[in-house]
Amino acid sequence: MYIDVHCHLTDPEYDNFDGVAAVVRRAEEAGVERMICSGCSLDSSIVAARIAETYESVYFCVGFHPCELDKYKEGDLDRIAALCSHEKCVAVGEIGLDYHYENNPSKELQRELFVRQLELADRVGLPVVLHSRDAAQETAEILEANAHLLKRGGVMHCYSYSAEMSDRFAALGLSFSFGGTSTFKNARKVLESVRRIPAPLILSETDCPYLTPEPYRGVFPNEPCRVVHVVEKLAELKGTTSEQMQKQILENAERLFFKLH
Ligand code: NI
Repeated sequence: MYIDVHCHLTDPEYDNFDGVAAVVRRAEEAGVERMICSGCSLDSSIVAARIAETYESVYFCVGFHPCELDKYKEGDLDRIAALCSHEKCVAVGEIGLDYHYENNPSKELQRELFVRQLELADRVGLPVVLHSRDAAQETAEILEANAHLLKRGGVMHCYSYSAEMSDRFAALGLSFSFGGTSTFKNARKVLESVRRIPAPLILSETDCPYLTPEPYRGVFPNEPCRVVHVVEKLAELKGTTSEQMQKQILENAERLFFKLH
Protein backbone atom coordinates (compact mmCIF):
# COMPACT_ATOMS: atom_id res chain seq x y z
CA MET A 1 0.00 0.00 0.00
CA TYR A 2 1.13 3.50 -0.79
CA ILE A 3 0.66 7.07 0.33
CA ASP A 4 1.04 10.29 -1.62
CA VAL A 5 1.71 12.91 1.07
CA HIS A 6 1.68 15.85 -1.32
CA CYS A 7 -0.56 16.26 -4.35
CA HIS A 8 -2.54 19.07 -5.95
CA LEU A 9 -5.89 17.56 -6.85
CA THR A 10 -7.16 21.15 -6.69
CA ASP A 11 -5.38 21.93 -9.95
CA PRO A 12 -7.95 22.95 -12.60
CA GLU A 13 -5.88 21.09 -15.22
CA TYR A 14 -7.54 17.84 -14.13
CA ASP A 15 -10.83 19.12 -15.52
CA ASN A 16 -9.18 19.27 -18.96
CA PHE A 17 -8.60 15.50 -18.76
CA ASP A 18 -10.95 12.99 -17.15
CA GLY A 19 -11.40 14.77 -13.81
CA VAL A 20 -10.50 14.25 -10.16
CA ALA A 21 -12.90 11.32 -9.62
CA ALA A 22 -11.02 9.27 -12.23
CA VAL A 23 -7.66 10.34 -10.78
CA VAL A 24 -8.68 9.21 -7.28
CA ARG A 25 -10.05 5.92 -8.64
CA ARG A 26 -6.80 5.13 -10.49
CA ALA A 27 -4.83 5.90 -7.33
CA GLU A 28 -6.97 3.56 -5.22
CA GLU A 29 -6.70 0.84 -7.85
CA ALA A 30 -2.90 1.20 -7.76
CA GLY A 31 -2.92 0.66 -3.98
CA VAL A 32 -2.61 4.30 -2.90
CA GLU A 33 -4.38 4.19 0.44
CA ARG A 34 -4.21 7.86 1.26
CA MET A 35 -3.50 11.13 -0.48
CA ILE A 36 -2.86 14.51 1.12
CA CYS A 37 -4.10 17.30 -1.11
CA SER A 38 -2.16 20.49 -0.44
CA GLY A 39 -3.59 23.98 -0.24
CA CYS A 40 -1.63 26.89 -1.74
CA SER A 41 -3.98 29.80 -0.99
CA LEU A 42 -7.26 30.35 0.84
CA ASP A 43 -9.28 29.39 -2.25
CA SER A 44 -7.32 26.22 -3.02
CA SER A 45 -7.44 25.24 0.66
CA ILE A 46 -11.24 25.48 0.56
CA VAL A 47 -11.30 23.36 -2.62
CA ALA A 48 -8.94 20.84 -0.99
CA ALA A 49 -11.37 20.50 1.94
CA ARG A 50 -14.24 19.89 -0.48
CA ILE A 51 -12.27 17.19 -2.33
CA ALA A 52 -11.40 15.50 0.99
CA GLU A 53 -15.10 15.53 1.93
CA THR A 54 -15.92 13.81 -1.36
CA TYR A 55 -13.30 11.02 -1.32
CA GLU A 56 -12.55 8.89 1.70
CA SER A 57 -8.89 8.33 0.75
CA VAL A 58 -8.17 12.06 0.40
CA TYR A 59 -6.98 14.25 3.30
CA PHE A 60 -5.78 17.81 3.00
CA CYS A 61 -3.60 20.58 4.39
CA VAL A 62 -4.22 24.32 4.37
CA GLY A 63 -1.96 27.31 3.93
CA PHE A 64 -0.43 29.97 1.72
CA HIS A 65 2.35 28.93 -0.64
CA PRO A 66 5.05 31.64 -0.80
CA CYS A 67 4.45 32.15 -4.54
CA GLU A 68 0.73 32.72 -3.97
CA LEU A 69 1.08 35.54 -1.47
CA ASP A 70 0.00 38.15 -4.00
CA LYS A 71 -3.50 36.75 -3.38
CA TYR A 72 -3.19 37.11 0.39
CA LYS A 73 -5.61 39.48 2.14
CA GLU A 74 -5.66 40.39 5.81
CA GLY A 75 -8.08 38.02 7.54
CA ASP A 76 -7.28 35.08 5.25
CA LEU A 77 -5.22 33.42 7.98
CA ASP A 78 -8.26 33.41 10.28
CA ARG A 79 -10.19 31.52 7.62
CA ILE A 80 -7.24 29.16 7.11
CA ALA A 81 -7.19 28.63 10.90
CA ALA A 82 -10.91 27.78 10.87
CA LEU A 83 -10.27 25.07 8.24
CA CYS A 84 -7.65 23.50 10.53
CA SER A 85 -10.35 22.08 12.78
CA HIS A 86 -11.83 20.07 9.87
CA GLU A 87 -11.61 16.37 10.73
CA LYS A 88 -9.62 15.60 7.56
CA CYS A 89 -7.16 18.51 7.81
CA VAL A 90 -3.80 16.95 8.73
CA ALA A 91 -1.30 19.84 8.43
CA VAL A 92 -0.64 23.50 7.74
CA GLY A 93 0.95 23.83 4.31
CA GLU A 94 2.38 24.30 1.99
CA ILE A 95 4.27 27.18 3.53
CA GLY A 96 7.85 28.41 3.28
CA LEU A 97 10.15 30.45 1.06
CA ASP A 98 10.61 30.53 -2.70
CA TYR A 99 13.29 32.86 -4.06
CA HIS A 100 13.50 31.21 -7.47
CA TYR A 101 11.95 33.90 -9.66
CA GLU A 102 12.72 37.63 -9.55
CA ASN A 103 9.05 38.52 -9.57
CA ASN A 104 8.04 36.23 -6.71
CA PRO A 105 6.33 37.99 -3.77
CA SER A 106 8.81 40.07 -1.73
CA LYS A 107 11.14 38.28 0.64
CA GLU A 108 9.81 40.37 3.53
CA LEU A 109 6.23 39.26 2.90
CA GLN A 110 7.32 35.63 2.43
CA ARG A 111 9.25 35.61 5.71
CA GLU A 112 6.42 37.29 7.62
CA LEU A 113 3.73 34.87 6.41
CA PHE A 114 6.04 31.88 6.86
CA VAL A 115 6.51 32.67 10.56
CA ARG A 116 2.85 33.55 11.08
CA GLN A 117 1.83 30.21 9.58
CA LEU A 118 4.36 28.36 11.75
CA GLU A 119 2.69 30.08 14.71
CA LEU A 120 -0.72 29.04 13.43
CA ALA A 121 0.35 25.39 13.10
CA ASP A 122 1.65 25.42 16.66
CA ARG A 123 -1.53 27.06 17.95
CA VAL A 124 -3.80 24.47 16.33
CA GLY A 125 -1.44 21.57 17.07
CA LEU A 126 -0.77 20.44 13.48
CA PRO A 127 2.47 19.54 11.67
CA VAL A 128 3.74 21.72 8.81
CA VAL A 129 4.32 20.96 5.13
CA LEU A 130 7.28 23.04 3.99
CA HIS A 131 8.08 24.37 0.54
CA SER A 132 11.57 25.79 0.07
CA ARG A 133 13.24 26.68 -3.20
CA ASP A 134 16.54 28.52 -3.63
CA ALA A 135 16.30 29.60 0.00
CA ALA A 136 18.01 26.80 1.94
CA GLN A 137 20.00 28.93 4.40
CA GLU A 138 17.21 31.30 5.24
CA THR A 139 14.66 28.49 5.58
CA ALA A 140 16.95 26.67 8.00
CA GLU A 141 17.60 29.89 9.96
CA ILE A 142 13.90 30.74 10.29
CA LEU A 143 13.04 27.18 11.33
CA GLU A 144 15.89 27.08 13.86
CA ALA A 145 14.83 30.42 15.33
CA ASN A 146 11.27 29.10 15.62
CA ALA A 147 12.02 25.53 16.63
CA HIS A 148 9.62 25.90 19.58
CA LEU A 149 6.78 26.10 17.01
CA LEU A 150 7.65 22.70 15.50
CA LYS A 151 6.45 20.47 18.32
CA ARG A 152 4.17 18.52 15.96
CA GLY A 153 6.96 18.16 13.39
CA GLY A 154 6.74 18.64 9.69
CA VAL A 155 8.03 17.62 6.30
CA MET A 156 10.35 19.25 3.78
CA HIS A 157 8.27 18.47 0.71
CA CYS A 158 10.01 17.62 -2.58
CA TYR A 159 13.36 17.90 -0.79
CA SER A 160 15.95 19.22 -3.23
CA TYR A 161 18.80 20.63 -1.12
CA SER A 162 22.08 18.91 -0.34
CA ALA A 163 22.49 15.77 1.71
CA GLU A 164 24.60 17.73 4.25
CA MET A 165 21.86 20.34 4.58
CA SER A 166 19.36 17.62 5.45
CA ASP A 167 21.17 17.14 8.77
CA ARG A 168 20.07 20.62 9.87
CA PHE A 169 16.44 19.94 9.03
CA ALA A 170 16.54 16.47 10.59
CA ALA A 171 17.94 18.00 13.79
CA LEU A 172 14.72 20.03 13.97
CA GLY A 173 12.72 16.80 13.91
CA LEU A 174 11.58 17.27 10.32
CA SER A 175 10.87 14.54 7.76
CA PHE A 176 11.60 14.62 4.02
CA SER A 177 9.36 13.71 1.15
CA PHE A 178 10.54 12.76 -2.31
CA GLY A 179 8.70 12.73 -5.60
CA GLY A 180 9.31 12.34 -9.30
CA THR A 181 12.70 14.06 -9.27
CA SER A 182 14.14 11.15 -7.26
CA THR A 183 13.53 8.94 -10.32
CA PHE A 184 15.32 11.23 -12.78
CA LYS A 185 18.71 10.10 -14.03
CA ASN A 186 20.50 13.39 -13.39
CA ALA A 187 19.19 13.91 -9.85
CA ARG A 188 22.51 13.26 -8.11
CA LYS A 189 21.78 15.56 -5.16
CA VAL A 190 18.42 13.96 -4.48
CA LEU A 191 19.93 10.47 -4.64
CA GLU A 192 22.63 11.41 -2.13
CA SER A 193 19.99 12.84 0.20
CA VAL A 194 17.81 9.73 0.04
CA ARG A 195 20.82 7.57 0.86
CA ARG A 196 21.83 9.75 3.80
CA ILE A 197 18.44 10.46 5.41
CA PRO A 198 17.34 7.78 7.91
CA ALA A 199 14.48 5.63 6.59
CA PRO A 200 12.09 6.64 9.44
CA LEU A 201 12.21 10.22 8.10
CA ILE A 202 11.36 9.43 4.47
CA LEU A 203 7.96 9.99 2.81
CA SER A 204 6.65 9.64 -0.75
CA GLU A 205 4.76 12.17 -2.86
CA THR A 206 3.96 13.15 -6.42
CA ASP A 207 3.43 16.95 -6.19
CA CYS A 208 1.13 16.28 -9.14
CA PRO A 209 0.12 17.52 -11.68
CA TYR A 210 3.80 18.26 -12.37
CA LEU A 211 7.06 16.28 -12.04
CA THR A 212 5.82 12.97 -13.41
CA PRO A 213 8.25 10.19 -12.38
CA GLU A 214 10.11 7.85 -14.70
CA PRO A 215 9.18 5.85 -16.74
CA TYR A 216 6.45 8.42 -17.53
CA ARG A 217 8.57 11.56 -17.25
CA GLY A 218 7.08 14.34 -19.36
CA VAL A 219 3.57 12.88 -19.36
CA PHE A 220 1.02 15.45 -18.22
CA PRO A 221 -0.78 15.54 -15.88
CA ASN A 222 1.02 13.54 -13.23
CA GLU A 223 -1.28 11.91 -10.67
CA PRO A 224 -1.09 10.08 -7.31
CA CYS A 225 -1.16 6.55 -8.84
CA ARG A 226 2.39 7.24 -10.04
CA VAL A 227 3.72 7.46 -6.47
CA VAL A 228 4.26 3.70 -6.92
CA HIS A 229 7.29 4.45 -9.14
CA VAL A 230 8.70 6.87 -6.58
CA VAL A 231 8.50 4.24 -3.83
CA GLU A 232 10.20 1.66 -6.07
CA LYS A 233 13.08 4.08 -6.59
CA LEU A 234 13.32 4.94 -2.88
CA ALA A 235 13.46 1.22 -2.05
CA GLU A 236 16.25 0.70 -4.59
CA LEU A 237 18.26 3.64 -3.18
CA LYS A 238 17.80 2.38 0.37
CA GLY A 239 18.76 -1.16 -0.64
CA THR A 240 15.49 -2.65 0.55
CA THR A 241 12.41 -4.26 -0.96
CA SER A 242 9.43 -2.33 -2.25
CA GLU A 243 7.20 -3.99 0.40
CA GLN A 244 9.54 -2.96 3.21
CA MET A 245 9.76 0.61 1.89
CA GLN A 246 5.96 0.83 1.57
CA LYS A 247 5.54 -0.33 5.15
CA GLN A 248 8.17 2.10 6.44
CA ILE A 249 6.62 5.07 4.61
CA LEU A 250 3.10 4.25 5.83
CA GLU A 251 4.40 4.10 9.41
CA ASN A 252 6.25 7.39 8.95
CA ALA A 253 3.16 9.10 7.53
CA GLU A 254 0.96 7.64 10.25
CA ARG A 255 3.23 9.05 12.95
CA LEU A 256 3.44 12.50 11.39
CA PHE A 257 -0.04 13.13 10.02
CA PHE A 258 -2.59 10.65 11.27
CA LYS A 259 -2.00 10.00 14.94
CA LEU A 260 -4.89 12.26 15.86
CA HIS A 261 -7.20 10.75 13.28
NI1 NI B 1 3.15 21.45 -3.91
